[in-house]
Amino acid sequence: MRSVRNIAVSGIDQLWDAYLGISSSGADCQPTSYRVMHKMFKLVPLAADDQFIDIGCGRGRIMCFAARQPIARVAGVEIGKEHAAYAQKNMEHLRGRLVTNWSVTTGSAADFDLTGGTVFYMYNPFGGALFTQVIGKMRQVAAVAKKPIRLMYINPVLRAELDNSGWLAPTSVLHTDRHGKVAAQLYESR
Ligand SMILES: C[S@@+](CC[C@H](N)C(=O)[O-])C[C@H]1O[C@@H](n2cnc3c(N)ncnc32)[C@H](O)[C@@H]1O
Repeated sequence: MRSVRNIAVSGIDQLWDAYLGISSSGADCQPTSYRVMHKMFKLVPLAADDQFIDIGCGRGRIMCFAARQPIARVAGVEIGKEHAAYAQKNMEHLRGRLVTNWSVTTGSAADFDLTGGTVFYMYNPFGGALFTQVIGKMRQVAAVAKKPIRLMYINPVLRAELDNSGWLAPTSVLHTDRHGKVAAQLYESR
């Protein structure tokens, strides 16, 4: 049974969706709540030269948020065809979109080119070898980037892997859950 709290969160999320002219909520997807999203991005301001990439973008809620900022590029990759179709439509219909250089790619993050990305967003999309592979690709991007790259890692179950990576530093906790457990962590390349 859904708690009163969850029902309230989903109601607020639907109001935000309506305000933005998008449909990013759904029983079959688990998006970041608008409340948590807004809180986190206050701690992670985006700059004009930032290229934001959501790895496992779902229906594109976070892409839509980023696309309302005056930044250089927004991209998302999503393995679920239906989710990706929603993300595409949402970006097309988003009210107040400022970013013109944007793309939604349907497919696996394994095949997605991260080149140019400066701010990466991962809401625990996958683990295992793929996680290691994608973080490895991020490292290559960081090696040639003009400024440190940032990774927003939500529900960070594989934090230990990043903490021990040697090239990413955990720079701030973006969100804690009701029990005080870290629910989102910001990393920056050294
Ligand atoms: C928890 S949802 C997060 C959605 C969105 N980033 C957000 O925060 O609202 C994680 C998403 O990752 C996607 N995903 C899982 N494996 C993937 C893969 N190999 N490549 C791309 N996307 C993947 C899932 O389909 C799901 O939509």
